Amino acid sequence: MTKRKGIILAGGAGTRLFPITMGLSKQLLPVYDKPMIYYPLSVLMLTGIREIAIITTPQDQDQFRRLLGEGGQWGLSFTYIAQPSPDGLAQAYLLAEEFLNGAPSAMVLGDNIFFGHDLPRRLAEADAQPRGGTVFGYRVADPERYGVVDFGPDGTPRAIVEKPEVAPSPYAVTGLYFLDGTAPERARGVRPSARGELEITTLLEMYLAEGLLSVQQMGRGYAWLDTGTHGSLLDAGNFVRTLSERQGQQVGSPEEIAFAKGWITPEELAERARMFAKNSYGAYLERLLQGKH
Ligand code: TTP
Repeated sequence: MTKRKGIILAGGAGTRLFPITMGLSKQLLPVYDKPMIYYPLSVLMLTGIREIAIITTPQDQDQFRRLLGEGGQWGLSFTYIAQPSPDGLAQAYLLAEEFLNGAPSAMVLGDNIFFGHDLPRRLAEADAQPRGGTVFGYRVADPERYGVVDFGPDGTPRAIVEKPEVAPSPYAVTGLYFLDGTAPERARGVRPSARGELEITTLLEMYLAEGLLSVQQMGRGYAWLDTGTHGSLLDAGNFVRTLSERQGQQVGSPEEIAFAKGWITPEELAERARMFAKNSYGAYLERLLQGKH
């Protein structure tokens, strides 16, 4: 199988976070001690993905470049793609078609945070599927806000319904999609929905109709947070702070993952640690370097 490539979808208008996001992309906002995009980036890195397209609005692209560069500092390679207007999640596959060049992909929404024991194993399982797609269902109190999985009597998924008035189950589809190399071709067949967007749900339904979509449960031992409102953004920051202060371990550190995977040398890690010498993130990287963590 061709190596899977990554996509971080970090465009959108972020209207629910106005006025903050009138001047700054949502995915650059802080979630406690790191920019939001570090967390979904870490998920792709934990999957072992090193070639990543970052899709942003045209006007925000420069700021993302300033923050993330070309990716070499983490042993990665970034390709920047502009999405002229927020026409829906499935559009990402059209925009990234050339980048993907037939490879399977893992796409993550730039405002989604995943945390949980054994997450790398779950990611590896999804990555190992050569054909079709894998998405994750997560139980939420307000499924009506999401794409929701409708399970048949035997427990297999039979439909995914976008923002239903009455949710067929409490299981929302999270913003992490492992799809095979046919995704761009299929995305070309997605027509805009009533709200004018190319819905990821429609694309997933195409896979489902052919029996090619696996819906994996992410149980209660996982946290799936989104950060699209003022309250949820603050909650996510508090969650990261609580965990990292209690454990003395970072949540979503690209340096840590890159170093653990051998994608950067000790010298390169030391260089990053020096950049953050004035704060606890730098001290953390320094400890990693000394093998104390
Ligand atoms: P949403 O939360 O649906 O949209 P948004 O972030 O623009 O926020 P709001 O509803 O407050 O206006 O998007 C989910 C994620 O997908 C988010 O990271 C933005 C991104 N996105 C795009 O990059 N392009 C798009 O066309 C859409 C719809 C979303």
